[in-house]
Amino acid sequence: MVGYIVARRTAKTDQVGGWGLKRKRMGAKARSVDDWSRVSAPTVLGRVKGLQVLAAFALDPVGASGRHLMPLGQAVELTRLGTSKRRILFMWGPEYNRQFLLRSKTMRTSGLWPLKSPPGSAQRSLSYHPLKAYGPEQAAFYDLIDPFFNRSVIEQRSNDIRSMIVDEIERWQPGIHDFYELARRCMERVAFTLLFGVDESSRFNELSDRLHEYHRANWAYPAIAFPINLPGTPYHAGMRQAKALQRYLYSWMDEAEGNGGSKFVFQRLADGRRADGCPFARENKAGLVAMLSWLAYETTATALSWAVFLLAQHPAILADLVDELSAHDSAHDGDADRLLSLPLLDAVVKEAMRLIAPVPLISFRMAHAAAEEEEIAGQRFAPGSRFYVLPHLTHRLPDIYPAPDRFRPGRWFSSKPTAYEYLPFGGGQRRCPGFWLAMTNLKFALAALLERFRPVVPDRARIDRMYAVVTMPKNGLPLELVPRDRSIASRPSQSASGSIYDLFTPEPNRPVRH
Ligand code: HEM
Repeated sequence: MVGYIVARRTAKTDQVGGWGLKRKRMGAKARSVDDWSRVSAPTVLGRVKGLQVLAAFALDPVGASGRHLMPLGQAVELTRLGTSKRRILFMWGPEYNRQFLLRSKTMRTSGLWPLKSPPGSAQRSLSYHPLKAYGPEQAAFYDLIDPFFNRSVIEQRSNDIRSMIVDEIERWQPGIHDFYELARRCMERVAFTLLFGVDESSRFNELSDRLHEYHRANWAYPAIAFPINLPGTPYHAGMRQAKALQRYLYSWMDEAEGNGGSKFVFQRLADGRRADGCPFARENKAGLVAMLSWLAYETTATALSWAVFLLAQHPAILADLVDELSAHDSAHDGDADRLLSLPLLDAVVKEAMRLIAPVPLISFRMAHAAAEEEEIAGQRFAPGSRFYVLPHLTHRLPDIYPAPDRFRPGRWFSSKPTAYEYLPFGGGQRRCPGFWLAMTNLKFALAALLERFRPVVPDRARIDRMYAVVTMPKNGLPLELVPRDRSIASRPSQSASGSIYDLFTPEPNRPVRH
């Protein structure tokens, strides 16, 4: 049970609005651990606030972290009632990001699929995957997946990647669509072709639909809050989805093995070894494939969706980007390297992921098996403690990003944040291995899309966000694709609404350079 919330004392502290809480401001420079020497005493009001914050965080972590945590500084701790030594620390800002991500040898992430279930169940084996590994086990996993996504592989295959993306986008029709669905189909084709070594669209659609449904079932709050395995309950639906997905992956694996391992990822898994030298068990292979497949398309589809949405809301920037792309060769052919290094295209992609971080928070747990307590931010944390690193809040620090809630790609021409000031792909030893693929996909997709269409947010559209590892559109992302040769009113939708608008303040007619 969580008892109270305290922020830690530092050289610069302020009282925060009557809660008896202290707030901490860390500069960009490292401070000594002595800054962290004392903890302010919790107040009764603090306890109430702690529980309130935790409840808000469980329902909407992105919104709650902005509202409740950000005003408190750059690190907030929740301490449990009673004698438990396990604590919860929320961190953001470059100094804490660096301290934590560089020393996370005993930290594992909380994984993708939170529903708890008994050992031996399909849900348990799908949800126990290498994101939950740490130390040598995690290193072995990195070695296993490196040949799929490392920089040189992606550079060598950039023309194939571009052809797939252009081919997908050429099938899109003008009109109002759920853009997120289109983006998923496009990104799934690239990711799965690289993973499985073949381009089989009907199968890919089925796999991504199953993964998508399974993922949503895992993040249905009633299923998390009431894990009751009775027919008709959301939890039961989640368990059913897990079994169906596992069966599906098994049948695919069996077929691939029967064919002499023609499917690339299955072959690597069959040949691969865990850190202890043992081969992967069947259920580990299915879990690994599910995890990799989901990460490889869904993260990028979400990032692409929000980037296009932000452009649609900022017509002047969209026009500047179209100019930059038009001055370049066509998105279909021409020099891929040049396209990938166009400055405004690069800045738009970075700025979109700053403002709506696809992975807004990274949740870690210190392994229960860790031998010793870890010192983080000057405090000792026991095995089992939880840590949240918050790119969403780091990306909103006004000292680093002036006017942080504005979509201003131009800021990237004059500033170059460090790896701990800008971390849409995480950082340190667990940094996302899909970085090169993701950036390549996003740039090719934007170029190919804008060569054919202008994205427009339809009047009275409602666009809500939800948190499920990534910040994804809750009920799809309605966007109108207007053929490029038709002139469109150069204004964003004034009548659209929804919780995505909490994350930025539109500024319709400001060009990139000002
Ligand atoms: C815009 C797209 C993407 C974003 C924003 C993103 C973000 C992230 C972040 C923040 C992490 C760190 C989690 C942690 O610290 O444990 C991560 C890890 C990971 N990502 Fe990505 N990612 C993207 C695309 C991809 C792609 C295309 C792949 C391809 C397979 C991928 C595979 C992975 C894997 C396997 C990990 C786990 C690394 C580990 O902890 O061992 N990601 N990603």
